[in-house]
Amino acid sequence: MPESFLKKALWGFQPYVPGEQPPDGEGWVKLNTNESPLPPSPKVIEAIKSAIDDSLRLYPSPTAAPARAAIAAQLDVNAAQVAVGNGADELIEMCFRAFAGKGEHVAYPTPTYPLFEPLCRIHEAVPHPHAMAEGWTWTDELAQDHAPLKFIVNPNSPTGTWSPESAVEDVVARSRGVVVLDEAYVDFAPESCAGLIEKHRNLLVLRTLSKSYALAGMRVGFALGDPELIDALDAVRDSYNMDRLAIVAAVAAIQDQDHHRQIVEHVVAERAWLAEQLREQRFEVSPSAANFLFVEPPPGSSAPAVADALRERQILIRHYDREPIARWLRITIGTRDQHERLLSALKEIIQ
Ligand SMILES: Cc1ncc(COP(=O)(O)O)c(C=O)c1O
Repeated sequence: MPESFLKKALWGFQPYVPGEQPPDGEGWVKLNTNESPLPPSPKVIEAIKSAIDDSLRLYPSPTAAPARAAIAAQLDVNAAQVAVGNGADELIEMCFRAFAGKGEHVAYPTPTYPLFEPLCRIHEAVPHPHAMAEGWTWTDELAQDHAPLKFIVNPNSPTGTWSPESAVEDVVARSRGVVVLDEAYVDFAPESCAGLIEKHRNLLVLRTLSKSYALAGMRVGFALGDPELIDALDAVRDSYNMDRLAIVAAVAAIQDQDHHRQIVEHVVAERAWLAEQLREQRFEVSPSAANFLFVEPPPGSSAPAVADALRERQILIRHYDREPIARWLRITIGTRDQHERLLSALKEIIQ
């Protein structure tokens, strides 16, 4: 028998650990995984209910064609420039399958979304992290890295930092391989850089319906890019990667832009309010263009201790136990009630 059934490349592997997901309905204030504080569109719920019928015995459209068509119409691109996936996470994984071979480099700035490093290990690619510069900006070394696959996240998580289109284009134009611009949080930011796909055939832009469309539970993400890159993703995708209910939910969500705008407006207004309140409690609050705040507790309080004390009060926020962000906390924007619970718990904990 082998020492382990796991392939050798994964011995000692540290998997990606998603934020805690406590059981529903137990009164938790969940501000740890950047879900929407508002519910999905009622039209999405209706569409899902009416799709629950005998047709579930049939496989879904392998290309999730109705979802691609709805996304293309909304974003004014060609359906051949759209791929869809079981969340943006699946599309990230498909990028490894399509663009990063065993032993090849995968570049990304750090700190950023912590999924890239474990995916390198799974795919036996070589992680090439580039420490961000002052103000969480991308470095020349990152832009010049000739890895066949590179990820940048804008707005970045967990820092919330927004980089203007000129900075994104600089990275894309100086890269030789595929650049994946993860725009999971872009709807809360000043603007998207998706228009750059018309100019740069090495650029893939990722989006998700998990945040600004309140559909984290349905698992819908999409990619925008040159048809050649989209074909590459399709070539490596699982045959039926979007189920029937996810497809109808995606179409209904994309078509209800009024509801989507309400979610975005709520988050942007509450983000400003919460930032102000936290500053009054002597927190350092980093500028955020996302649906979360990245904050440093006042001098004398430790970030993990604050997160633990909140957890004891059934309030979840995110702490990453790694440098250079171990002194910081990420707090998802919630409802006003949730914020008031958070703020009064913080008052108790910090005094
Ligand atoms: C930067 C980033 N990309 C992608 C995702 C995953 O999105 P999805 O829920 O569509 O898989 C997240 C989730 O929080 C994220 O923070």
